[in-house]
Amino acid sequence: MTNFLKKKKILLIVTGGIACYKALDVIRRLQENQVEIECILTESAKEFINPLTFESLLGNKLHSNLFSLSEEKQMNHIKLANDIDAIIVIPCTANFIAKMANGIADDLASNILLASKKIKIISPAMNTNMWTNNAVKNNLKKLKSMDVKIFSPKKGKLACGTQGTGKLMEVEEIIKNLNDIFSPKSLKNLKAIVTAGSSIEKIDPVRFISNFSSGIQGYEIAKSISTHGAKTILITGKTNINKPNNLKILNAESAEDFYEKIIKNLPCDIFISAAAISDWKMKNIVKKKLKKNQGDSINLELNENIDILEKISVHHNRPKLVIGFSAETEKIIENSKSKFKKKKCDWMIANDVSHNKVFGSNYNKIHLITDTKIENWPRMKKSAIAKKISKKIVNFFKKK
Ligand SMILES: Cc1cc2nc3c(=O)[nH]c(=O)nc-3n(C[C@H](O)[C@H](O)[C@H](O)COP(=O)(O)O)c2cc1C
Repeated sequence: MTNFLKKKKILLIVTGGIACYKALDVIRRLQENQVEIECILTESAKEFINPLTFESLLGNKLHSNLFSLSEEKQMNHIKLANDIDAIIVIPCTANFIAKMANGIADDLASNILLASKKIKIISPAMNTNMWTNNAVKNNLKKLKSMDVKIFSPKKGKLACGTQGTGKLMEVEEIIKNLNDIFSPKSLKNLKAIVTAGSSIEKIDPVRFISNFSSGIQGYEIAKSISTHGAKTILITGKTNINKPNNLKILNAESAEDFYEKIIKNLPCDIFISAAAISDWKMKNIVKKKLKKNQGDSINLELNENIDILEKISVHHNRPKLVIGFSAETEKIIENSKSKFKKKKCDWMIANDVSHNKVFGSNYNKIHLITDTKIENWPRMKKSAIAKKISKKIVNFFKKK
């Protein structure tokens, strides 16, 4: 991982949650990445952990008192708000989320946040009932609209003894996400639409046609291009994947539904069609639940579905770069090449989905087909494939 955190100046605010002690680990990892750290503990945080522990690790005094004159002389609190590259709150309590969302400034940490125009990030941790409470949800919505980046908590065993969502994001992931925030934004000013997951075509009110696509690859690509600065919209079928932060996410079911949502969001610069859209749909969706005992077999009349990739490739608002996926179980290259020609996209990513090799797995082996060549990539993690595709996209737009 390229270290984009080097020489950055970060203000770490620690608020009063049970996960306070994990902030020490964050400090250690930031120091390893040569980050200059300023730190504030809220009064509640000091109930959980001795400030001396932080000062020893930092080799520095903490900032703590809004009204301390001696501290004001050394470092005016407004100056601290602007002398840094980013502010991150770890862990961030429900109380502190509420204060940030509503502009409350009743201690040093909340004053600095209000006075700062720098990047703001929170990494919440709390009991599941608190996390799912509408008051917290509404405050988070407000923070998102104020461009505060949210490192959402994970599912797991919580300190209160329950199981659920509310566990502080793993320290390694926090550092990786922070690093991403500072990575060069080569795709900024570009808009991307990525589709992911599988479509659902209704048979009757209770049954549907679908496929085994997990959505992992599309999600990884959406996350990766958005870290390069592309304003990304992820249009997704049902998946079991945690929704990524800081992306616009739209849910879609049928092929028509995917298509309408894509069209509504055109024009865009990059279109990546990673969703597995069903090739067929019912000629007529049966209105009432189909009953058994109609003999040994039942005939369902299917019509071919709309070809979204082809439609977008020839659309009058065609994106500058159109990338399709081709899932095949035999003659991978041959079949994918003919799809590439028929669908008129710029790149086709071919993969072998036979024998459960790809769907649901974190790994894939792909062939990248373009006008001029075919690249055979080794088997890699889907996240690594996403990064490699993103780099290619960056190069594509550099040459434009
Ligand atoms: C033992 C204990 C554990 C707590 N853990 C959490 C927590 O994990 N997350 C949270 O949002 N609040 C937690 N709280 C509540 C906060 O400490 C409380 O809301 C406090 O006012 C937060 O102050 P601050 O946001 O200024 O740091 C806990 C309280 C206690 C007594």
